[in-house]
Amino acid sequence: MNSCTKREMIVGLICIGLYCMISCTPKEKRAGMNDKELLGKQIFFDETLSEPMGESCAICHTPEKGFADKYSRITSEGAVKGRFSNRNSMTCSYAAYVPALYYDEEEETFVGGLFWDGRVNSLEEQAAQPFVNPLEMGNESNERVVEKIRKAAYYPELIKIYGETTSTDSIFSYVLDALATYERSVEVNPFTSKYDAWEDGKYKFTKQEKEGLKLFKEKGLCAECHILEKDERAGRVLFTDHTYDNLGIPSNPENPYFNVQPPYNTCGRDTMDMGLGAFLQDSAEYGKFRVPTLRNIVLTAPYGHNGYFKTLEEIVHFYNVRDVEDYPAPEYAETVNKDELGNLKLSEQEEAAIVAFLHTLTDGYLPD
Ligand code: HEC
Ligand code: HEC
Repeated sequence: MNSCTKREMIVGLICIGLYCMISCTPKEKRAGMNDKELLGKQIFFDETLSEPMGESCAICHTPEKGFADKYSRITSEGAVKGRFSNRNSMTCSYAAYVPALYYDEEEETFVGGLFWDGRVNSLEEQAAQPFVNPLEMGNESNERVVEKIRKAAYYPELIKIYGETTSTDSIFSYVLDALATYERSVEVNPFTSKYDAWEDGKYKFTKQEKEGLKLFKEKGLCAECHILEKDERAGRVLFTDHTYDNLGIPSNPENPYFNVQPPYNTCGRDTMDMGLGAFLQDSAEYGKFRVPTLRNIVLTAPYGHNGYFKTLEEIVHFYNVRDVEDYPAPEYAETVNKDELGNLKLSEQEEAAIVAFLHTLTDGYLPD
């Protein structure tokens, strides 16, 4: 064999090697997911972790629905039939950028905190709750969750990543860490909307979308709260300043939570959701909920913390005419924001333009 053919053989072997590396690795690994993210993803989708089985994080946070409820329900049903959460399943995508709850002295407002009412401060702390919430995954204790984790196909992988341990508490904390790692991954925070492409000069807004953006900033006042400044960590717009407001949304008579029996719902139809104020035990904050991101908003219907609005058209109309058309009374009247919404004087066409703009916030746009 002369040296030339030898070289060709080596090149050939390298090529086969490379081909194998690419084609034999799972698709997600190729897309750049690391082992911890992949583990977190498996836990996120694992329907054996509830009591009874059948409920995973992904049922209430499905990728195809912008990481909100798989069935677009007003509120989601837990593992036990007939038990519904009190609030609409919010997206968990982009939640990685919500800061821990704090009071901004200058703006005189609370900022951050996860859930609609800001009651937890990190993705790890958050992830511990659904497992043992009787209205969600329904486990009796963290120990029961860990028993199920020990039986899962991915358990050896978990031990490989975090190390061998007999401690139940340690295993539970690894589960939370893996889930939070997945929730911080590119897959859950892709920033691939038309809006992002537009910022990068790779998408041209239609005439209507452009008008919608202008109205979003100016006449509609949307950007007062769903801000258009880039988040420092994300380097992208999140369409929220993470502050709190009471929009005056009425109680939703169709909320299935109202039919949940005691001890889970002791007030039946009279249940009042006081949001941030209930958590802080501060009446000045009663009825306020966190400004959510508007990314993937088209996919996450219904809208508002209690799913009162079935469509984007309905909620945009509400912002426009709350104070001039007949709506049922707000769930909690005292703290309603009367400055930035309620009578915006938008025409039908302008409302439609804002909705068209909201359609540009859906991930998965591939520029040419
Ligand atoms: C039965 C439905 C259900 C299941 C199961 C569920 N969630 Fe949720 N999730 C919700 C609801 C409802 C909220 C809002 C609750 C509130 O504000 O009180 C929420 C809120 C969240 C948030 C807060 C997002 C933000 O912006 O503040 C995150 C993160 C989250 N869930 C992740 C998870 C993870 C991880 C799991 C699995 C361990 C999970 N969820 C299981 C319904 C569910
Ligand atoms: C004063 C602050 C403020 C302004 C101005 C504002 N929003 Fe909101 N937005 C919020 C808050 C707070 C919520 C959550 C309220 C709740 O559920 O109780 C919300 C919720 C929403 C939702 C539902 C999100 C979901 O996940 O269910 C949409 C859609 C929305 N806003 C769009 C708009 C548009 C469009 C405008 C302009 C016409 C606008 N907002 C103006 C604060 C604001």
